[in-house]
Amino acid sequence: ALPGDIESLIGRMTVTEKAGQLTIMAAAWAGGAATALNPPSAGGSFDDQLDQVRKGRLTGVFNGNGAEMARRMQTVAMREARIKVPLIFAADVIHGFRTVFPVPLGEAASFDPDLAERTARAAGEEAAAAGIDWTFAPMVDIARDARWGRGVEGAGEDVLLGERMAAARVRGFQGKALTDNNAVLSCAKHFAGYGAAEAGLDYNTVDISERTLRDVYFPPFEAAFDAGSLSTMAAFNEIAGIPATANKWLLTDVLRDEWGFPGFVVSDYTGDEELIAHGFAADARQATKLAFMAGVDMSMQSGFYIEHLPDLVNSGEVPMARLDQAVRRVLAVKARLGLFDEPFRRIEPRREKTWVRTPEKLALARESGRKSIVMLKNDGDLLPLPAKGKKIALIGPFASGQHDLIGPWCVYGSNDQAVDLATGVRAAVADPSMVSVTQGSNVEKPVDGGIEAAIAAANAADIVVLAIGESQNMSGEAQSRTAVVVPEPQQALAEAVAKTGKPVVVLLKNGRGLALQGAVLDAPAILVTWFLGSETGPAIADILFGKEGPSGRLPISFPQASGQEPYYYAHKSTGRPNPEGPLQPYKAHYRGISNEARFAFGHGLTYGDIAYSGLSLGDAKLPWNGALTVQATVTNRGKRAAEEVVQLYIHDRAASITRPVRQLKGFQKIALAPGESKQVSFTLRRHDLQFIGQDMKPTVEPGAFDVWVAPSAQADGVSGSFDLVSA
Ligand code: IFM
Repeated sequence: ALPGDIESLIGRMTVTEKAGQLTIMAAAWAGGAATALNPPSAGGSFDDQLDQVRKGRLTGVFNGNGAEMARRMQTVAMREARIKVPLIFAADVIHGFRTVFPVPLGEAASFDPDLAERTARAAGEEAAAAGIDWTFAPMVDIARDARWGRGVEGAGEDVLLGERMAAARVRGFQGKALTDNNAVLSCAKHFAGYGAAEAGLDYNTVDISERTLRDVYFPPFEAAFDAGSLSTMAAFNEIAGIPATANKWLLTDVLRDEWGFPGFVVSDYTGDEELIAHGFAADARQATKLAFMAGVDMSMQSGFYIEHLPDLVNSGEVPMARLDQAVRRVLAVKARLGLFDEPFRRIEPRREKTWVRTPEKLALARESGRKSIVMLKNDGDLLPLPAKGKKIALIGPFASGQHDLIGPWCVYGSNDQAVDLATGVRAAVADPSMVSVTQGSNVEKPVDGGIEAAIAAANAADIVVLAIGESQNMSGEAQSRTAVVVPEPQQALAEAVAKTGKPVVVLLKNGRGLALQGAVLDAPAILVTWFLGSETGPAIADILFGKEGPSGRLPISFPQASGQEPYYYAHKSTGRPNPEGPLQPYKAHYRGISNEARFAFGHGLTYGDIAYSGLSLGDAKLPWNGALTVQATVTNRGKRAAEEVVQLYIHDRAASITRPVRQLKGFQKIALAPGESKQVSFTLRRHDLQFIGQDMKPTVEPGAFDVWVAPSAQADGVSGSFDLVSA
């Protein structure tokens, strides 16, 4: 549909029909994908919802159930409503649909945006086959506090990695063209600062500077919008006293006036209603006006817009021009999705059956699972394990069973359809009877006799694979933790198993950075396996037995202790940094521990033996309008092939705004055969050294910079310095 058609459509709509275009509700289809967050009753019965559609009071529904539901609703919208505007069907397609890929935090560990694009494409295609037009993803919130449970849905703590993953996921969901019947509209969320909740408590107050918002939290959104995301979701949190859902500065001054965002803004689930609990609005009417006038175009789930906007417009409190503007934005995106031309284009039950869980998509789930695994330790080259001749005891609550495989926020996936660890391991070894399985402990409660059984199993085996960590409901929305540790009963299990003296490989299941302790930390080998999705068992087995080497890197820091949170590598120096070496009095550290991560951002080992040498910076001058080439040699001295994520960090020594001790400015994943060396080149330009200055504008200042090409944010790698030379 052309813009002119949209204008004439708007001209024919009543105020109520316009407010209807700005109202979305959880689907009430019987048997739909109801969750605790989306009770099927919240929007009335399915018949009630059909009636709302008939009356033009709904723009669409979310988290519904399949093409048949969409077909019935769209038929009413296109045949029985007075004004024929196609519905939009939305869903939380966060890390897969029926084929489930690793949780986004895990996938970020791949440091492979191309992979993220491919999994988002596959998820988008499956979702579109079920009639879905719009996904509430990607989540692009920077997460720097491991206590916050929703870090699992994003790309971790780093700005550059966050930008690259955000853009890749948008490209993947939206495909070649939004009009294609396998493309879904993306929604960069949650705008903004949601990950900066005080004390890591979900929904909590955020009080950060505008500079930090602009320097750290905004860039992944800008990257998502540059990649073409045409919707964004307002965050639940307030920022310095003004809830994001009613924040005109955020939603209009920055988003529209500065960035020229052409899409529409949707509230989060009852975000407008929550302005009352925030103490920002006295009642529903005021909350509606505040959210709408600040820039929230569409209201999710509260029903406030359909209830109150008509009266607010009729009384002149909300200008008709603002109502038309919001409707125009929503209709323009519906048009971009091809819905006016062909309202049923994504609703085709045959595709719904044939496009999902195909062998290609399951192979991609296995590949992405493998590439998300991070090896933290491998003392004495315990890994990879031999696939024959050794008895292996799989011990722990995640050793087997159809649970905790797909991870949080996976509305349409099923643990029952995923492959567990025991199945993956048994399929990978020569003699499956050499593999025993013992639960040992529940996730958060001991099992009667569990430790004794685990000790017996360990004693009867040559090697223990200890599968422990967090269940999938321990991270995700509203799952903040006060202590980011392995739950006590599992820690006790690890201590008991370690005492048998058998070599232990720890397989961590986790949706956040964990402070590892005792026997878990001391185990000779540790693999971070997150929640890997449909092909969990085979992906882990591929790495355990060396079919492929581990190539993931931590996208978040693992602290030494929970009390260090929020912890992130790109922190400031303070005036009293502790110099390298022993702890010194009156320097910035906690009692007894250094201010370092236990396992740093970017850390991850390979089955090779990687060495960095030969940093070259040319004349070590970055001309104002030119570029500096940073080169280093990376060598695999080991006997096995390896994939190394080579990372470029900088530090601005003195600036008019204090700068982080290190900042990632580039990364490359390279494959190295045994004995092979490669020269890796990065290009730095003035723009890469930019920060938000005292005047709150992007600023670059000439001067000296330190530079590292290194395997993690805490590793030395090879380092040098250069000058940015003024014009
Ligand atoms: O998309 C989600 C959001 O991330 C959290 N609240 C509910 C929304 C819709 O399900």
